[in-house]
Amino acid sequence: MKILLDCDPGVDDALTLLHLAPLIASGEVDLVAVGTVHGNVAPDVGALNALRVLERAGLRDIPVAVGAGRPMAQPVAFASEWHGTDGLGETHLPEPAGRPAEISAPDQIVRLARRHPGELTLLAIGPLTNLGIALLLEPSLPELFREVVIMGGAFDHPGNITGHAEANIWHDPEAAELVLGAGWPITLVPLDVTHATALDGEWLDRLAAGEGEIARLAARVLEFYVNAYHRSLGVRGAVIHDALAAMLAIDPSLGDYTERPVRVELRGDRTRGATLWDRRRYADEGDRPPVKVAVRVDVAAFRERLLASLL
Ligand code: RIB
Ligand code: CA
Repeated sequence: MKILLDCDPGVDDALTLLHLAPLIASGEVDLVAVGTVHGNVAPDVGALNALRVLERAGLRDIPVAVGAGRPMAQPVAFASEWHGTDGLGETHLPEPAGRPAEISAPDQIVRLARRHPGELTLLAIGPLTNLGIALLLEPSLPELFREVVIMGGAFDHPGNITGHAEANIWHDPEAAELVLGAGWPITLVPLDVTHATALDGEWLDRLAAGEGEIARLAARVLEFYVNAYHRSLGVRGAVIHDALAAMLAIDPSLGDYTERPVRVELRGDRTRGATLWDRRRYADEGDRPPVKVAVRVDVAAFRERLLASLL
């Protein structure tokens, strides 16, 4: 399957690239290109981080394009307390050999969609600004993708930036509202299911025992994130949100889904960035297209498959 990744690397974004590496090497996944967006870090930093991680995983010929440096309608904010100022857990790895592509990430989304109509899975694991811009550039974009899998949102689960808003949606609510209402085949992977897959100390110890280049890099990049998790929640563990979205994109049978329209709160003083759905049996959703939302996942399979790919 052909995947176009949009990300804000970021620790769990980086772990997702490492998770995909063996699948790309085996040919099961063709990572056509990567785009970066503001969020955990600035997109130019994120692009160099994507190149650093891909090169260490032995993948050198995948284009990485820099995307939007700020949201559509609010000041930019980063998440260095969780991902480090360098976006890779303060590892400050050497510069990559490769350089970002000339094209912008939104233009890359439009160009590749036109080149491979109906073939690509767009995997979005950062704020949705690039996808929103691409929709404005190419109104027929929703017809050109096989599927759009998005890590984002929170329904029967608190947010992680505010009590109501999940980070990828909160970082650009206007873009998220545009994307979730555009009518393309979306599968949304919210905190409701990513938090269920939280990794514990035992999992981290099994990763730490790995001797391969990828396992060692994963453990190194994860350390800062695990400490931040421990500081905030008092337990040793980590939630690798983005890797679950990638795993469900590749093997949807790992999850159960419900389908209904999802809106984003744009005007609430306290609720801006919240993802909203109407679960009344006869809800009148007007012409808002439905999206698939993952509501349950095979947690054991996630933990084993993530560890196996890194080891
Ligand atoms: O809420 C989790 C999301 O925010 C993940 O994509 C993580 O990388 C951060 O961007
Ligand atoms: Ca991310």
